[in-house]
Amino acid sequence: MSFDYDVVIIGGGPGGYNCAIRCGQLGLKVACVETRKTLGGTCLNVGCIPSKALLHASELYESAQNDFAGMGIKATVSLDLKTMMKSKESSVNGLTQGIEYLFKKNKVDHIIGFGKITGKNAVDVDGKAISAKHIVIATGSEVAALPGVDIDEKKIVSSTGALSLGKVPKKLLVIGAGVIGLELGSVWRRLGAEVTVVEYLDHILPGMDGEVQKQAQRIFKKQGFDFKLGRKVTAAKTMKSGVKVTTEASAGGDAKNTTYDVVLVCIGRRPFTTNLGLDAVGVATDKRGFIEADHFKTNVDGIWAIGDCTHGPMLAHKAEDEGTAAAELIAGKAGHVNYDAIPGVVYTKPEIASVGQTEEQLKAAGIKYKKGKFPFQANSRARCNHETDGFVKILAHAETDEILGAHMIGVNVGDLIAEVTLAMEFKAASEDIARTCHAHPTITEAVRQAAMDVEKWAMQM
Ligand code: FAD
Ligand code: NAI
Repeated sequence: MSFDYDVVIIGGGPGGYNCAIRCGQLGLKVACVETRKTLGGTCLNVGCIPSKALLHASELYESAQNDFAGMGIKATVSLDLKTMMKSKESSVNGLTQGIEYLFKKNKVDHIIGFGKITGKNAVDVDGKAISAKHIVIATGSEVAALPGVDIDEKKIVSSTGALSLGKVPKKLLVIGAGVIGLELGSVWRRLGAEVTVVEYLDHILPGMDGEVQKQAQRIFKKQGFDFKLGRKVTAAKTMKSGVKVTTEASAGGDAKNTTYDVVLVCIGRRPFTTNLGLDAVGVATDKRGFIEADHFKTNVDGIWAIGDCTHGPMLAHKAEDEGTAAAELIAGKAGHVNYDAIPGVVYTKPEIASVGQTEEQLKAAGIKYKKGKFPFQANSRARCNHETDGFVKILAHAETDEILGAHMIGVNVGDLIAEVTLAMEFKAASEDIARTCHAHPTITEAVRQAAMDVEKWAMQM
């Protein structure tokens, strides 16, 4: 039987575009169907890239106000939000166009339109039928809705609206103290907003290492975040003067009303598979709508699923690695993702990064571990830069010394985590890091010292 393509990928985000490029590299005839006019998905258009552009610019803005004078730099600083937004857009445009170029280079057909699966080997794109031996679903995720809080992307916004506000809100309410809440809350706080965060749980950043959570909460509170923990929003009403928000204790009762200029809803994301035709071909999903997949294969032969629409962390690099591995498996090669070594980074100041298991997870699993910890206060480069908040923590198996996890909060830890991730890929022991020469004076020395501290011979504290 002949098909138009070997592989048709639905969705042009980090999962889909990397899968398409790898298919092209491996000589497969491939098309990528994407509804948006630009490639790059959530990540490049309304996620990772614009948020990091604003985090960088707002960090410089705040630093110029608070840190420059102490280092002998005199500057008068004022905000030009329009230019900041333009600068963000130019980063987004440059990168989305870059993927167009990579598609051409790797002979990937880019089809603009909405893809719907109409048969085991058939996809309809806005009325045009395409056939393919393999279909890869890479349709990503969408914002999870909160009953009683209707997003209008003006006063009640999702992350998408929060990336493009026309002016700095005086009072911003963030619903959810997760990754988006802290990153985008940081952007607007640095630009001048009073930021309140309502979180259902009694702590921020659920799922992260407990010590990191506590330290992060202390630091963000000091920066000016007003955390209302153990509370939930039950209603939000848009009025001329702002948004009237009702909160209650998570367990119910103690209702309070407060008015904010803007409300950001970021209580998680859910898989996006609306109108995809999954039922018609019998692709199985779980109760929450995630596509069930085993090594990226769904229950229907020839149909694959990768990225946010299937299980696992909702991260661009996880989607990217799944896309690459799925393409390799389709091409008859070995494709593999090591889910034990997927780093996660929160790009606040200080940054937060983790890989592998937390202490809480190790305890729950009954795994005996050793712990090494090193504070940035004792790192010479962090002290030169006056950026001494936080620590590096490394967890290693009590008997084999194999690294089981690393959890960090501090300057540049989003980059430092790569060293431990690589070490974990190689099944390294903490001693391997402890005995690796690290340049001085660098922030990376904190990782080495934490590894030394696993056997209690850290020499710089
Ligand atoms: P997506 O990027 O969501 O791409 C799916 C694409 O499929 C979309 O472009 C959509 O238009 C398209 N599509 C859907 N259905 C169809 C259809 N039927 N036909 C055609 N096209 C369709 N992750 C990180 O790792 N680091 C970060 O710093 C980070 N920051 C983030 C910041 C924000 C504000 C948000 C919202 C997310 C962030 N993420 C980050 C998460 C990251 O964006 C996602 O994990 C990643 O984009 C998932 O990639 P994906 O390819 O699975 O899906
Ligand atoms: P999240 O899952 O990180 O945080 C959501 C928070 O909202 C949690 O703390 C949760 O307890 C809380 N919550 C849930 N319901 C609530 C309610 N009714 N009232 C109050 N609080 C409530 O989700 P978030 O921040 O929306 O991000 C979505 C996804 O995007 C994340 O899973 C993450 O993987 C990805 N992302 C990754 C980034 C990165 O890697 N740097 C940056 C931004 C997003």
